[in-house]
Amino acid sequence: MNLLITGGCGFIGSNFVRYWLESHPRDRIVVYDKLTYAGRRENLHDLWDSPRLSLVQADIADMDAARRACCENQIDLIVNFAAETHVDQSILGPLIFTDTNVRGTHVLLEVARELGIRMHHISTDEVYGHIPDGHQSVETDPLAPRSPYAASKAAADQLVQAYYITYSLPVTITRGANNVGPFQYPEKVVPLFATNAVLGEALPVYGDGLQMRDYAHVYDHCTGIETVLLRGEIGQVYNVGTGREMTNLEMVNIVLETLGQDRSLIQHVTDRPGHDRRYSMNVDKLRALSWEPKYDPWQAVTEATRWYAQNRAWWEPIRNGEFREYYDRQYAERLAGTRKA
Ligand code: NAD
Ligand code: DAU
Repeated sequence: MNLLITGGCGFIGSNFVRYWLESHPRDRIVVYDKLTYAGRRENLHDLWDSPRLSLVQADIADMDAARRACCENQIDLIVNFAAETHVDQSILGPLIFTDTNVRGTHVLLEVARELGIRMHHISTDEVYGHIPDGHQSVETDPLAPRSPYAASKAAADQLVQAYYITYSLPVTITRGANNVGPFQYPEKVVPLFATNAVLGEALPVYGDGLQMRDYAHVYDHCTGIETVLLRGEIGQVYNVGTGREMTNLEMVNIVLETLGQDRSLIQHVTDRPGHDRRYSMNVDKLRALSWEPKYDPWQAVTEATRWYAQNRAWWEPIRNGEFREYYDRQYAERLAGTRKA
């Protein structure tokens, strides 16, 4: 089979490419990636020599480029990881989130329809919005996104489902929980906190830190997507997570304990506007396809933290480069205006 993996140089996409090439030795992968700040060729540095892997640098919103990549490589399946993905970036500059996440996904759907290709879309638990205590989101729940990022992902999900209903396009969707693991850009909380702690810098916890997230290992997301690709029902949505959540303060404590660092590094700062208090998903529908996560959230955060401690050569050039400008914009005032926990 020939797969077009959009966003394959990003965090989850690169982990998925690595996993799929190892597990499916007869398949070929074309990574289709615009290489934004979050997309890094070096995430797959050891694999580019493989005759089974190639890269097309292009935008998913570019219809001609996407059509050409599918035709020239006889693509059987598109897996759409490509997106603008950081909630805080979507608050600072939201329009690119519509361009890529909504229009880009729509363009891929049009290409898939024209060429008769199955498309799998990678979505997120954020489309369900804030989840009150006592409830876990199921796939049929109404969508109630609350950030520009989440709204753009919800719009994309609706388009994917509309193409199934209207054109019978063979589609599936997975909605992932908060992933952690190797090669995650350090704007996201676990790599940010792990690398700050390694450097002895403050960990900026938004608000009271009692927000709840299901921190799932990216490996389990990859096997969940694989399960849906191999055994999922066309037209269906599947949640992918551990089904268990922890507070951000619990997550911070795991990071600090894993690195042998002191809790005095914790600094409570001004909260994220519209911060969703709790995400929690029921993953029984995926479990019914004989899938089980390998890691619980505690193991996932520990493993991810260890990877950043052991792989400074990957993240130091990022942190010393353009990331610095974003970091100052997002955190300088927050960190200056607050006190340590
Ligand atoms: P990431 O930001 O690490 O990577 C995104 C990738 O998409 C990068 O390689 C980037 O260059 C590429 N890209 C961005 N815009 C593009 C465009 N217009 N055309 C082509 N390529 C483009 O993201 P991630 O964390 O790996 O997330 C991957 C997918 O999984 C996204 O769809 C995201 O919404 C979803 N998701 C992420 C998480 C998470 O915790 N990180 C959880 C659930 C779902
Ligand atoms: O839930 C799935 C989503 O997880 C994905 O769809 C997104 O692409 C991904 O970015 C992630 O979104 P979150 O907003 O949940 O992740 P983030 O790592 O930005 O933040 C996780 C939690 O940590 C959240 O409650 C906000 C908090 N946080 C985050 C940062 C960056 C802090 O307290 N301080 C921080 O500096």
